[in-house]
Amino acid sequence: MSDRYLDFANSGVGGWLTGALGLPRPAPLRRRAEAGAGPVGPLLLGPDGGGRMAAVLSHLAGAAGQKTHAAWSPDVRYGGLVFDASGCSDAASAQALYRFFHQAIRSVAGHGRIVVIGTPPELMADAEGEAIQRGLEGFVRALAKEARRSIAVHMLYVAPGAEEAAESTLSFLLSPRSAYVSGQPVRVTAPVAVGDAGAGHKDRRVLVTGASRGIGEAITRLFVAEGAQVVALDVAGAAEGLSALKAELGVETLALDITAPDAAGTLLADALTRGGYDVVIHNAGITRDRTIARMEPREWDSVMAVNLTAPLTITQTLVEGGGLRPNGRIVAVSSLSGIAGNMGQSNYALSKAAWIGAVRRLAPQLVEQGLTINAVAPGFIETQMTAAIPFAIREAGRRMNSMGQGGHPADVAETIAWLADPASGGVNGQVVRVCGQSLLGA
Ligand SMILES: NC(=O)c1ccc[n+]([C@@H]2O[C@H](COP(=O)([O-])OP(=O)(O)OC[C@H]3O[C@@H](n4cnc5c(N)ncnc54)[C@H](O)[C@@H]3O)[C@@H](O)[C@H]2O)c1
Repeated sequence: MSDRYLDFANSGVGGWLTGALGLPRPAPLRRRAEAGAGPVGPLLLGPDGGGRMAAVLSHLAGAAGQKTHAAWSPDVRYGGLVFDASGCSDAASAQALYRFFHQAIRSVAGHGRIVVIGTPPELMADAEGEAIQRGLEGFVRALAKEARRSIAVHMLYVAPGAEEAAESTLSFLLSPRSAYVSGQPVRVTAPVAVGDAGAGHKDRRVLVTGASRGIGEAITRLFVAEGAQVVALDVAGAAEGLSALKAELGVETLALDITAPDAAGTLLADALTRGGYDVVIHNAGITRDRTIARMEPREWDSVMAVNLTAPLTITQTLVEGGGLRPNGRIVAVSSLSGIAGNMGQSNYALSKAAWIGAVRRLAPQLVEQGLTINAVAPGFIETQMTAAIPFAIREAGRRMNSMGQGGHPADVAETIAWLADPASGGVNGQVVRVCGQSLLGA
């Protein structure tokens, strides 16, 4: 759906008028389609060349033909700043952050990226160290609100020893692929198993539920573009959309209601005929919005069944039945509504927030089988679902985030593709918001 305010504010007359009236002028995000999938550049690495991430960063930048700088120069516009604050253990050492960003932040080009590297706070030796490392999250969230010009700011906690496993994550955070993710903490810990960074999804077998339209369609398109063999699943009523995808992309399709009593068994049988899925993406979801006093039991039950119990049962059946291959990935689509709550969505919010608990509990269990499980929590994404929202609420949803605009289904797909990457084995049990740093639930 087109965002008329965004288009107007970035037109000649609109730019002048919004400037004269002091209205916000969000810069349209630059995504893979406009700016490619590789890291932005040149990169300024602080302090003095990137600290413990120096080797990984220079490998990443070198592979993409980007330059790195160890010292700030007033003559350079940087595509990205990366600052290793993982050694900051007290207030005095944290002053290095002030010095670096005070000098460099105005040198970041529009659509640039800023990444602060930290140590997981609980791994610090004492209370002050833990406090400062946790404090980095506040620093990053504030910087993300100051940066503007579609610059995204990320907090990346890397456990000692997990530096190399962080390459796929740094590659994502420093690229146009993460255009609508900002102000969120991400953790990389000792990896489950790590494939080659950059190998992508070629020949991986990927199941996408709710694939016929919206976010599921975008996920399908992205994985196909990356060379994956996608099984696109949706209900029989979505046959038209599925057939169109099959005709255009050559994907295999599966007409199946995930809440059907035999759905998990059907999927396990399908997985086993293919030698197992590499990636399972639980995207299918529904809303049945009504305040709790007016809500019908079937509205409560259907939302819980589609959004939570069916994908949990499918996950359990596939894992126990050997339906996932080694270094497999499971990604669920949660929602900002599950983090912030939303009027008239008590059923939906419960079902989506439940995934936060589910990935936390399942992640350490799945590690033992070489698998990871994570979730994404989209904010306001331009789809048929959000097009149906009344105008005033829709406008508020679009503007109440640091990017001043709604995300695209492709932004959710990109985040899922990173979490599902064979090289992202160090990212497990996390919920990553794709919301342009929405003010809701922040
Ligand atoms: N659009 C947003 O802004 C937004 C925000 C946060 C979260 N989400 C979540 O993202 C996911 C996709 O959302 P969307 O906006 O693309 O919605 P959508 O309604 O366009 O697509 C959902 C798809 O799921 C399918 N589906 C529904 N019930 C099913 C079932 N029982 N079995 C199999 N397939 C089923 C539908 O047929 C549809 O194709 C959902 O889980 C949604 O809750 C969306």
